[in-house]
Amino acid sequence: MKKFEGRTAMVTGAGKNIGREIALAFAREGANIVVCDYNEKNAEQTVGEILEYGVSAMAAVCDVRDRNKIFEYVAEAINKFGKIDYLVNNAGGSAALLKKLTRFVDAEAETIDFVIDTNLKGSIYCTQAVLPSMIQAEYGKIINMSSIAAVCGLYNRVDYAAAKSAMYGLTKALAMEVGEFNICVNCVSPGAINRDGGNLDHMTFLGKNGHSGEPKDIADMVLFLASQDYITGQNFIVDGGRTLGPGWR
Ligand SMILES: NC(=O)c1ccc[n+]([C@@H]2O[C@H](COP(=O)([O-])OP(=O)(O)OC[C@H]3O[C@@H](n4cnc5c(N)ncnc54)[C@H](O)[C@@H]3O)[C@@H](O)[C@H]2O)c1
Repeated sequence: MKKFEGRTAMVTGAGKNIGREIALAFAREGANIVVCDYNEKNAEQTVGEILEYGVSAMAAVCDVRDRNKIFEYVAEAINKFGKIDYLVNNAGGSAALLKKLTRFVDAEAETIDFVIDTNLKGSIYCTQAVLPSMIQAEYGKIINMSSIAAVCGLYNRVDYAAAKSAMYGLTKALAMEVGEFNICVNCVSPGAINRDGGNLDHMTFLGKNGHSGEPKDIADMVLFLASQDYITGQNFIVDGGRTLGPGWR
């Protein structure tokens, strides 16, 4: 029997890169998947790839900032699969998504709202939508995607670093509240992870040239946390040692 057979995972931002890799990894281990992404083409493509593993999947094509739609899709998913066991709040990004990276002093209100809402409020909405069924089942794992930007800051992305830091607070406080229902809440903070087939070429301490990571490195951590029953309220940095300090060889 596969590790997550009979379970259901909802992964936001599962249309490509890290989210897609997490969704496929859960599917390989037998879980049914709710693929949430506002990019319909990418969401459907991930669903197609998941079905090849012989599990079920549905696309939830919506913006995580749209609280009503998220609740509707979660209700539909619970109707279809009976429950949601794992929620991965992965959808996120900086003002780069709007091509509006600036110094903080120049950041527009709409851009700041976009960044905070996409990363933080979207995760809050998805969590609120899924929690009642987890509480009822007295089982669940919630994994929030933060970033090393929360640990050491990131130039021209003050709002993003603030939103990703808030993911820690969300993780810790929620872990306290839902522990009595055997629901574990944890946070993963990636370093530079290659996306869209490109190589970010950032400094790390791993490999001869300090290579950046792959989506699989993050998916491995997420699946590990999904399989654990005694880890909660923690943050796990997966960054090839990038945040170790200023030392360089
Ligand atoms: N790639 C990295 O180096 C890195 C580093 C640290 C943290 N992260 C975090 O990991 C997560 C995934 O990163 P990635 O590099 O795979 O991102 P990406 O931009 O490559 O993919 C994000 C996916 O989420 C979807 N999405 C974005 N906003 C959405 C919204 N509001 N509603 C629904 N879907 C939405 C996009 O359509 C896309 O499919 C993000 O939260 C990001 O902040 C990434």
